[in-house]
Amino acid sequence: MKILVMNGSPTVASRTRGIAEYAEKVLKEQGIHVTFFDAGKNKLPLFTGDMSEREHEEVKRLTQLAEEAQGFFICTPEYHSGMSGALKNALDFLSGSHFKNKPAAIAAAAGGGKGGINALNNLRTVLRGLYALVLPDQFVADPLHFNDEQELVEELAVLRVKALVEQLTSLTSTVAFK
Ligand SMILES: Cc1cc2nc3c(=O)[nH]c(=O)nc-3n(C[C@H](O)[C@H](O)[C@H](O)COP(=O)(O)O)c2cc1C
Repeated sequence: MKILVMNGSPTVASRTRGIAEYAEKVLKEQGIHVTFFDAGKNKLPLFTGDMSEREHEEVKRLTQLAEEAQGFFICTPEYHSGMSGALKNALDFLSGSHFKNKPAAIAAAAGGGKGGINALNNLRTVLRGLYALVLPDQFVADPLHFNDEQELVEELAVLRVKALVEQLTSLTSTVAFK
């Protein structure tokens, strides 16, 4: 089973990356083949629809990883009540052929309180447009769930990510190997 983990945050010291890296760790511990796309490090051009963008190294890498993946763990920060522009830009380089009938778990890093839900509703809508099978469950992390190195450390938060990974791998094995 191959799972693509995506960090949708463009920031350098990113809590969203902390969630993505924790999910990557849990998946690897289960012996799953994990690939990783990081919107803050694997810098994509701005999508304009120009065919020359398809030759960009990071665009080629992202489309290949998405093509090969059987499931996705997608993480976004909540910025102004939506997903990050960086993640939306990355998804605009992909299409339904990359996601159709493939499970996706979604998670967000937010500012606290009730933050994160709008970003995940937004991401869920976009992934429906891409025909992904988005899990009903989802996860939001608040700043207090991280240590100073932006690692996800809070006890209940890590359990929630483990549970989400479990649901993702269970559905992916059902769908991909039926
Ligand atoms: C431009 C901007 C807009 C934000 N808007 C929201 C918001 O609407 N809701 C929220 O809960 N947090 C909001 N935040 C806080 C971020 O979600 C929070 O800092 C999160 O950790 C960002 O993820 P990152 O660390 O990966 O960049 C915003 C932060 C920034 C920089």
